Amino acid sequence: MTVSRGEFNSRVGFILAAAGSAVGLGNIWKFPFEVGKGGGAAFVLMYLAFCFLLCYPVMVSEIAIGRKTRRNPVGAFKALGFRRWAIVGYMGLMAGVLILSFYNVVAGWAFGYFLEMVQGNFEIGSQFDGFAADWMKVGLYGFFFMAITAYIVSNGISNGIERAAKFLMPTLFLLIIALMIYAMTLPNAIEGLKFYLIPDFSALTPTVLYAALGQAFFSLSLGMGALITYGSYVSRDQNIVTAAAFITLTDVGIAFLAGFMLFPFVFSQGLPPDGGAGLIFVTLPGVFETLGATLGIVIGSAFFLLLSFAALTSTVSLLEVPVSYLVDEHGIKRSRAVWLIALLIFLIGVPSLLSNGASSIFTNFVTLMGSDSPVDFMTLVGYIANDTMLPVGGFLISVFVAYVWKKHNLNEELATGDEDLRGSWLQTYIDIAISYICPVILGVITVVTVLDRFFGIHLFS
Ligand code: PHE
Repeated sequence: MTVSRGEFNSRVGFILAAAGSAVGLGNIWKFPFEVGKGGGAAFVLMYLAFCFLLCYPVMVSEIAIGRKTRRNPVGAFKALGFRRWAIVGYMGLMAGVLILSFYNVVAGWAFGYFLEMVQGNFEIGSQFDGFAADWMKVGLYGFFFMAITAYIVSNGISNGIERAAKFLMPTLFLLIIALMIYAMTLPNAIEGLKFYLIPDFSALTPTVLYAALGQAFFSLSLGMGALITYGSYVSRDQNIVTAAAFITLTDVGIAFLAGFMLFPFVFSQGLPPDGGAGLIFVTLPGVFETLGATLGIVIGSAFFLLLSFAALTSTVSLLEVPVSYLVDEHGIKRSRAVWLIALLIFLIGVPSLLSNGASSIFTNFVTLMGSDSPVDFMTLVGYIANDTMLPVGGFLISVFVAYVWKKHNLNEELATGDEDLRGSWLQTYIDIAISYICPVILGVITVVTVLDRFFGIHLFS
């Protein structure tokens, strides 16, 4: 069933909303801690290579599929005439639901930290473990966060999402630059930069490659159809390849700057870089304190408030995917679909909420084969959804475009709104990447590393 669909009001509207989806906790919370766990610069290099060489062509494909079909990820494959491929869309919906379920918990942390900073509680950094374990409080913040997300999504695509993205993202960007400059002036900053920028390739195990690939897909909101969905609201006169280039550069740029800012802070405070999911929450309050009480409160609150907004433009895009599915495919009223799914996802997130110290069952949830320490529930969901489902989704999308839908159809759609693309080197690269580079590399890395991580079978070591 088709229902009348919205469209982004302006060219920048789409780009900012999609960049808003991409830029979020993935850049500022997850990227630095993954770099820390992955041993530093070698991880960063792999991440950059994955983003530009593999993810960019997949992003272009997702947007093109969305704009061509004007459907949600499930309906899009059906609309192109390949009903069986709708399974890729269903997998995307599932990945999105899983991601939002834990993402919302971390968004709750960010919002909670804003409230702590407003009160000048710089001690919260050293109390992070207790903070994250206080499930009632953090759960309340998460509930509040999900409600705001639902409110924005229920107002429809252009009113809600477009307006929010427009002025908040540039402010966050400026704040990160300012903090980065400040970070350079601190003692030991150089050690942090060395860790971040000088690669030690012996650190590159399959597990690290896997994490870097998952991080690239997660950060760019790829592999689950979020950009098929956003693409479905894009008008035909827009240039997809430049829009995707802008989104990729913005997202990668902000993640890269966030690392530049954070590692000097981490090393100047003598903290371990592999501190895991608490890294920014443990590190930053102490930094804000060094700015003096007044400035510290202003900058600290602004930072966590903007981080919450960045998370919000991402949660909005995550929720939009299952909502657009229910609206398009099942004719359910938008507002009803929104509140229903938001509540459901909040509930699915409860084990993640409890897995940071509140419940020992979820905190030490499973010990994966070939590993000797247990992982918490939230981390496990990340392994499954971000690190596995997203790259597999990307793999399937590239195979679909190259061998099922066929490249000339992709090229036709890309040339709509961009006549100069025909015959250009960029088009040649996208063709080659989608047909060979993406399927082969994504396929191999996922198989090797799933065996490694989930089954303890080490093909390389
Ligand atoms: N890209 C978002 C971030 O980095 C997370 C996200 C993943 C959003 C997948 C939508 C889809 O925070």
